[in-house]
Amino acid sequence: MHILILGAGGMIGRKLTGQLLAEGAVGARAITGLTLADIAAPPRPDTDLPVTCAAADLSDPAAAARLVAGRPDLIFHLAAIVSGEAEADFDKGYRINLGGMEALLAAIRAEGARAPYCPRLVFTSSLAVFGAPFPEVIPDDFAPAPLTSYGTQKAICELLLNDHSRRGLVDGVGIRLPTVVIRPGKPNRAASGFFSGILREPLIGEPAALPVPRETRHWFCSPRAAVGYLIHAAGMDTAPLGAQRCLSMPALSATVADEIAALERIAGPEAVRLIREVPDDGIARIVAGWPQAFDAARATALGFRGDADFDSIIRQHIADDLGGRIGPGAARG
Ligand SMILES: NC(=O)c1ccc[n+]([C@@H]2O[C@H](COP(=O)([O-])OP(=O)(O)OC[C@H]3O[C@@H](n4cnc5c(N)ncnc54)[C@H](O)[C@@H]3O)[C@@H](O)[C@H]2O)c1
Repeated sequence: MHILILGAGGMIGRKLTGQLLAEGAVGARAITGLTLADIAAPPRPDTDLPVTCAAADLSDPAAAARLVAGRPDLIFHLAAIVSGEAEADFDKGYRINLGGMEALLAAIRAEGARAPYCPRLVFTSSLAVFGAPFPEVIPDDFAPAPLTSYGTQKAICELLLNDHSRRGLVDGVGIRLPTVVIRPGKPNRAASGFFSGILREPLIGEPAALPVPRETRHWFCSPRAAVGYLIHAAGMDTAPLGAQRCLSMPALSATVADEIAALERIAGPEAVRLIREVPDDGIARIVAGWPQAFDAARATALGFRGDADFDSIIRQHIADDLGGRIGPGAARG
């Protein structure tokens, strides 16, 4: 099968590419080629398989048409700008997060009009499709009612995915990703960034700021679990999904205190001492409006799996992103 990954240069896109190449197949079907697309051409992975690395702006309909012209069997649509940027720049958010999906679906419809074509389309949605007030544990039948532009863009994409799947134009699965921690690399300015930062920075001997109270609870998965959800979605039988193609994932409900306790077990009290409490009412207000836990019964029954605990999330980060080393002098992932 030929696979197209949109947003392949991003954090999840790179890890997904690596895992697909390591597995060599999706379900029973061997991978025969990859097209990796992003605003800047993603780095070429080390593989003997035919790989095309393309620079493409998905919100340009001509670019979407070029990428789909090869009629990939499986498409992962990960390309997006994140919540903070989509809130700060209304036009850019709608152009990329909604316009990108519209351009992709139009390109797939155009291919299908030439000759039968119905690719599996795995789309990364988000918890942000839900808006407060919510119950302590959000059930599968809780209605999306986003309170941000990013969440609204993702929710519209979910509806488009459902409708195109109902009409047999794509075979869609939407994965509502939890907040993915530990995000490797440098700190970013996302409001959720500290959830990763308070682990990532102390693990390499650097200070980190904690802007919210320690009892703050949220819904998490590791990068490995996120990639696992996407690959499971790519190979699953979609018949049981019926008309509702988008799923909340089984994941980990944990507090900041749980994160810090896991850090102490793995890296010791000296790592925890690097966390400085720097209350930020703005961030605390944003985070207070986010979901804390889900009962993802539907996805669990369909075989999706989350992480067991924060200890294993930290150990994965050390293995996958820090080359197995922690403490001052360890390379940043
Ligand atoms: N990381 C998380 O915690 C999280 C949580 C929920 C949902 N998601 C979703 O998962 C997906 C991947 O997230 P990530 O953490 O890897 O983000 P990321 O920002 O690391 O990667 C997204 C990629 O999309 C690319 N992109 C942006 N605009 C584009 C365009 N017009 N054309 C082509 N490529 C474009 C970016 O260059 C980037 O490489 C996104 O859709 C995001 O909304 C992520």
